[in-house]
Amino acid sequence: MQRVFSGIQPSGVPTLGNYLGAIRNWVPMQDQHESLFCIVDMHAITVFQEPAQLLAQTREMAATLLACGLSPEKCILFVQSHVPAHAELAWIFNCVARMGWLNRMTQFKDKAGKDREAASAGLYVYPNLMAADILAYKATSVPVGDDQKQHLELANDIAQKFNHDYQADFFPRIEPHILGVAARVMSLRDGTKKMSKSDASDQSRINLNDDADTIRNKIKRAKTDTEPLPDNMLGFEGRPEARNLVGILAAITGETQEGVLRAHGGKGFGPFKEVLADALIAHLEPIRTEMLRLLEDAPALDAALRRGAEQADAIAGPIVTEVKRIVGFLPRK
Ligand code: AMP
Ligand code: TRP
Repeated sequence: MQRVFSGIQPSGVPTLGNYLGAIRNWVPMQDQHESLFCIVDMHAITVFQEPAQLLAQTREMAATLLACGLSPEKCILFVQSHVPAHAELAWIFNCVARMGWLNRMTQFKDKAGKDREAASAGLYVYPNLMAADILAYKATSVPVGDDQKQHLELANDIAQKFNHDYQADFFPRIEPHILGVAARVMSLRDGTKKMSKSDASDQSRINLNDDADTIRNKIKRAKTDTEPLPDNMLGFEGRPEARNLVGILAAITGETQEGVLRAHGGKGFGPFKEVLADALIAHLEPIRTEMLRLLEDAPALDAALRRGAEQADAIAGPIVTEVKRIVGFLPRK
């Protein structure tokens, strides 16, 4: 049986992009595989996070994931920093990965921006920690958006070099499970930029805790062009905002993009946006309500996360102990 692992940073309120690109696709996996879903707070602090806010966002993320349908009965939901295996294995991987490999990572280049000297060392070794997240469980199936593909290739390089250097056939190959490019949700302000929970403009995204009025307003104000909607996919050429809004309606209703265009092609954006807002509100309102309900009982949430960490630790602990024997921190049995 495959073991599934994925992670999400508690660096803000999860967005519609996180939902359509990741979270929604995790839900059916918990029925089919042993699955671990991790709120990666250690990754989040690669960029400074205000402590009280980090704690609040970690809980909020847990509540959102549960509200979206993850169930502690079916999967292991936990917080990265609660399980020491992640940090321990990450250090060993810092010593396996090569500077040259890390230098090629596009996410570092994007996130560090122009002033690379000022980026944290943590941001630079971020992919090594991500490799440790997965390999501490010997997970083989990792569902992520396509922006994470390069990191998974690096994780496989690390696993292979470890196996080779220590002459141990220890870590398995990871199969990236790249969730459809159709599920790449773009910013409402700029159809060429990914929708992100860390974007400076709140108008650029739908947050999973936005209420109905907020969603309607954001969709109303979403950037578009002045042409009516095209009636076929070729008409998206040079119109990233139109493509994005149609893609969102298709994803949320389970309709194909062609189907959406058959129904709405030739219409202006005004009426289309009404339909889109209605569909989003109908889909997201129950999630928001459940999330707010769960957040009212913080001790229950914390207890669920503690249980998740214990279950995770029971799997990762023995694997990392074995790694310690392999590298010579502990005697071989
Ligand atoms: P992050 O927000 O960077 O912690 O990403 C968590 C998960 O959500 C990853 O699997 C990402 O690939 C996915 N994701 C983030 N933003 C988007 C987006 N705009 N569209 C689709 N998937 C996304
Ligand atoms: N880097 C991932 C992202 O930003 C989050 C992540 C951390 C992750 N560790 C992981 C995803 C392990 C999959 C597996 O989206």
